[in-house]
Amino acid sequence: MKKGKEESAGSLPAHIAIIMDGNGRWAKKRLLPRGAGHRAGMNRMIALAEHAFTRGVKYVTAFALSTENLSRPKEELDGLFSLFREYFEKSANTMREKGVSLKVIGDLSLLPEDIRTLVSEGEAHTAGGTVGTLILAIGYGGRQDILSAVNEAVRRGKEVTQEEFSALLSTGGIPDPDLLIRTGRELRISNFLLWQSAYTELYFTETLFPDFSEKELDRALAAYAKRERRFGKV
Ligand code: FPP
Repeated sequence: MKKGKEESAGSLPAHIAIIMDGNGRWAKKRLLPRGAGHRAGMNRMIALAEHAFTRGVKYVTAFALSTENLSRPKEELDGLFSLFREYFEKSANTMREKGVSLKVIGDLSLLPEDIRTLVSEGEAHTAGGTVGTLILAIGYGGRQDILSAVNEAVRRGKEVTQEEFSALLSTGGIPDPDLLIRTGRELRISNFLLWQSAYTELYFTETLFPDFSEKELDRALAAYAKRERRFGKV
């Protein structure tokens, strides 16, 4: 017999992951530089994370920069780095007040040193927040995450279980995402949380990220609530 209710997604995802695609096209449509699209994207991300936490979501992971994005033109990267600086400098206090913890995943050695310092300070300043956790993936690649966990397991010289392997990933201790949203029309995962999203529900939309509203996030949450999650079972 089908245990529809028990195995359905339930009402709310505990963890939402977002691929924030379409900032460049959003800017182009308005004859603005790409950086203006990223700034609009950053503001959107802040508002959406807050909205998600208000709804009761516990973890929001946003793909802010992939390892592959690091080969974009210097001007665009410098603009993104400035946005990260601004965000970490300005938002740590607000996040702390709102009970939101910050965590950054990715290879921080690929980033300028002052950003690495701001990340550590931001994480320390917001540690222990109980409302939710905002996880920013910066200099992140899913394959790289898996490879570094494999290498750590090899160093330990002992076979690992799936649970032990998950704990070795940069997201160790964080539940796998329940819902992955990708804006901006492309239908792919682009080296995001590869291991972690094995059973994640996917939601793709053509909306460019800076236009992705709280209303549309609610529509994605409603779509998720209707999904039946079986995790490979019948
Ligand atoms: C993809 O859109 C977006 C990015 C590579 C960067 C996303 C970064 C932000 C939204 C800023 C986040 C800031 C903080 C502080 C977290 P794209 O540029 O590839 O868009 P396109 O496909 O339209 O060109």
